[in-house]
Amino acid sequence: MSQITYKAGKEPHAREHRLIFKNVDREGWDTSMDKYMSEGGYDQLKKALTWEPKAVTDEVKKSGLRGRGGAGFPTGVKWGFIPPNNTKPVYLICNADESEPGTFKDRYIMHQDPHQLIEGMVISCFAVGAKLAYIYVREEFPEAAKILETAIGEAHKKGFLGKNIQGSGFDLEIYVHRGAGAYICGEETGLIESLEGKRPYPRIKPPYFPAALGLYMCPTIVNNVESLCHVKHIMEMGGDEYAKLGTPRNTGTRIVGVSGDVVNPGYYEIEVGKVTMGELINDMCGGLRNGRRLKAVIPGGSSAKVLRADERFKIKKGDEEVEIGIEDIPMDFDTMMACGSMAGSGGVIVMDDSRSMAWVLNNLNNFYAHESCGQCTPCREGSLWMKKLSDRIVEGNASPEDVDTLESVAYQIDGKTICAFGEASSWPTESFISKFRDELIAGTDKEKKDSIKNPVTALAAAGL
Ligand SMILES: Cc1cc2nc3c(=O)[nH]c(=O)nc-3n(C[C@H](O)[C@H](O)[C@H](O)COP(=O)(O)O)c2cc1C
Ligand code: SF4
Repeated sequence: MSQITYKAGKEPHAREHRLIFKNVDREGWDTSMDKYMSEGGYDQLKKALTWEPKAVTDEVKKSGLRGRGGAGFPTGVKWGFIPPNNTKPVYLICNADESEPGTFKDRYIMHQDPHQLIEGMVISCFAVGAKLAYIYVREEFPEAAKILETAIGEAHKKGFLGKNIQGSGFDLEIYVHRGAGAYICGEETGLIESLEGKRPYPRIKPPYFPAALGLYMCPTIVNNVESLCHVKHIMEMGGDEYAKLGTPRNTGTRIVGVSGDVVNPGYYEIEVGKVTMGELINDMCGGLRNGRRLKAVIPGGSSAKVLRADERFKIKKGDEEVEIGIEDIPMDFDTMMACGSMAGSGGVIVMDDSRSMAWVLNNLNNFYAHESCGQCTPCREGSLWMKKLSDRIVEGNASPEDVDTLESVAYQIDGKTICAFGEASSWPTESFISKFRDELIAGTDKEKKDSIKNPVTALAAAGL
């Protein structure tokens, strides 16, 4: 393989470890089959087809891969949930809805390296016994849908899709299905309903865990775009070697998308847990803009609970409990959870000391009120009330009691709904109020009303 060079200004940071994004922003790279095959493209599929399907699943289990869509659930374990005595068809769905605010990674894979995704999908379908697969692409990615359609056509011509793939006896068709632009279509059971041609009302779990009762009530594996791409690299490296990347229980690489008040926002592929929050922000992203100080970080997409810059977190290191600050948090699933938040979809939103937390929370609440599917009362009514109450705060018309009411509404949603959107929508309010209560209350001071509307001066007005 020739030396890889990247487009000027798009070179990976020295701390990056590129597997999935190896070809993103690469000089001389394109999305064609010829280009992909010139560097061993589809070799891992050919190898997988000589194995027993269960051996592929075992390799994915060994790798320790955890889903990159949000929940961080072990991929191989999920595949193993297909009932052993199943006689129904099995489906695989690639979740390309990528709608969590702050998340921007899957789109680059689809736009710049579609065959990596298709190869990962065909191997995964072979492992789980799926003969039909869908890529559910959000409405806002029309170009990605076109690129994928072209790539699927090329894969057919080369015999990597269709009947009797590479003479193995394995048949598979992949279809691109375009969503209509709703956040809830990213939730796997809402996505399945949408794919069935219905309103994307999420299904209750149990019993409707997709691996048992999914598309058309058949076993269905739903995986994120990035997760499915990792499968190809697990085949290439072997599960054990792959598991050496990252840290124990948090293996491999993942793409984090950093947005907000840093000098160099963008995507960075890191070994999971090998980079701390401080290294990510201060070194990889070039620090905060205009010499400002860090105020808060939402570490895993907008639903993740906010972390305060001056918080102390108790985590386990071996058998010992240690206290760390925000900059010392390793970017991995387990530590982020121990710190009271989640690594989620890898979307890291950085806020400096010019940000008004009332304004940020209101922005999030507007999003969730707009996106609730409306099926369950606590979420439908509660998300709207959270928006109205935080509207009141930023408009300077709230009383201090409104902050308490806002908090109580959030806790009346959390844990009381059909799908995890309930938690996703209430966690921002719960965490912003628990960590920035003084600032939100100060924002209810009528005399400071005008300055509260302006996120930059709100802090000064609150005397913080
Ligand atoms: C409200 C909501 C929105 C979601 N949006 C997405 C999304 O856009 N993309 C995605 O991959 N997963 C999303 N998920 C997670 C999926 O339900 C599912 O867990 C994931 O696609 C499984 O893939 P993985 O195991 O590879 O992570 C969302 C979950 C919820 C509750
Ligand atoms: S929690 Fe919200 S988004 Fe999920 S099913 Fe209920 S109303 Fe719909």
